[in-house]
Amino acid sequence: MSAATQPRRMLSDAAYVRIDRELAKYPPEQKQSAVMAALAIAQEETGWISPEVTEEIGACLGMAPMAVHEVATFYNMYNTQPTGKHKLAVCTCLPCALRDGNKAAEYLKEKLGIGFNETTADGVFTLKESECLGSCGDAPVLLVNNKRMCSFMDNRKLDELLAELRNAK
Ligand code: FES
Repeated sequence: MSAATQPRRMLSDAAYVRIDRELAKYPPEQKQSAVMAALAIAQEETGWISPEVTEEIGACLGMAPMAVHEVATFYNMYNTQPTGKHKLAVCTCLPCALRDGNKAAEYLKEKLGIGFNETTADGVFTLKESECLGSCGDAPVLLVNNKRMCSFMDNRKLDELLAELRNAK
């Protein structure tokens, strides 16, 4: 049964069309293979993977909500809590830590007045610790909203980034 035949509650029609397209890539008995794509589509729309979204994705893919939750909590690009407008994920794994990754994280904590997994009071920034982003040679690196990679982030570049994001519409 495709997502088109499921009761529709949480997401837009456009999101279900995209999920259906992902489901079509796999045999009907392996719908769960689309779980990562479906979670990403849902998160783009809702901002985070709430328990209700988890249930909905489970219904679309014929998976137990706990199985969906296990995927969402395993990969740190899925937000299992609400985030601010801009999520900054700084890599602090060893290769980056040896090249000022931790220093960049500490600088952001100080500038934003928050720790990891916290959101600024104005709801603009959430700070996260990231696993390796596959760009160790460019440390310090961070990822903005799961999509924009920022490299060689010294304090000056961090200041510029924060100012740019604060002013973004
Ligand atoms: Fe940071 Fe690889 S360890 S990008």
